[in-house]
Amino acid sequence: MDWGLQNRLSQIIKPQDNRALMLAVDHGYFLGPTEKLENPKNVIAPLLKYCDSLMVTRGIQRTCVPATTNTPMVLRVSGGSSIIGEDLSQEDITVSIQDAIRLNASALAMSIFVGSKYEYQTVVNLGKLVSKAQKYGIPVLAVTAVGKELGKDERYLSLACRIAAEQGAHIVKTYYCENFEKVVQSCPVPIIVAGGKKIPERDALQLTYNSIKGGAVGVDMGRNIWQSEHPVAMIRAVRSIVHGNANVDQAYDLYKKLVSEGPKKKNKSNKPTLKESKKPENKPTQNKSNKPNPTKK
Ligand code: 5RP
Repeated sequence: MDWGLQNRLSQIIKPQDNRALMLAVDHGYFLGPTEKLENPKNVIAPLLKYCDSLMVTRGIQRTCVPATTNTPMVLRVSGGSSIIGEDLSQEDITVSIQDAIRLNASALAMSIFVGSKYEYQTVVNLGKLVSKAQKYGIPVLAVTAVGKELGKDERYLSLACRIAAEQGAHIVKTYYCENFEKVVQSCPVPIIVAGGKKIPERDALQLTYNSIKGGAVGVDMGRNIWQSEHPVAMIRAVRSIVHGNANVDQAYDLYKKLVSEGPKKKNKSNKPTLKESKKPENKPTQNKSNKPNPTKK
């Protein structure tokens, strides 16, 4: 694999443990100002240091993410339809490769809609995007199975994920399902699981745990983090499973503990503290005991 491609992939799937925690905030590209993501800047700011990468559109990246961040960006480059339009699956590529490079994207993300009216268009677009991105060593993440009417069972998800991989996607994002292991086994590239609709915190932690147990490299979670009453506590609890090997009880205990401690005292100058400004994620986790290491990034 080319050095650039490998390097970018390792920014998203951490080589220390082959796991990934992505924070998804790209929902506005078809949902507009969806609940609790009305002000992306305020949502992203406290969470950025707890995710390995941020899934974002170029408009939100440019306006709501500080250019000084060292968190990798997974740039959504597809769109064209809205939740009130005729057909959500009618997407095209909306961002040029040049603009993605200007934005220093670590990966490009687009959706395919297998089994929908626009299946052909979106699958061909994926193939074309991989060809373009590969030229510059940029990996492509294919998002599958978004859409109400699509069945999200093992059979459908295996088909959709495999088609994405066959077109050359480097990572496939899909939903968790019963017999999820089978979806993973028949897909030759890493699978990351979308969080889906907001569910109780413990259930979202269970979903994270099950996904990893089933062979996913991690989660690309949005609503179950920023629609939680306590987004920071929630992302840290999810992180404790993805990178700290915590089980669901341990992660939920951490969530409750962080909630009970409440927000940390505000730094008056509004500048990051020394501890917070340090980029921690390039260091391997010092967890020799193999016990969960849930609190720290
Ligand atoms: C929408 C997306 C979202 O990023 C994805 O659905 C993840 O977010 P959530 O955890 O809220 O489902 O790709 O097309």
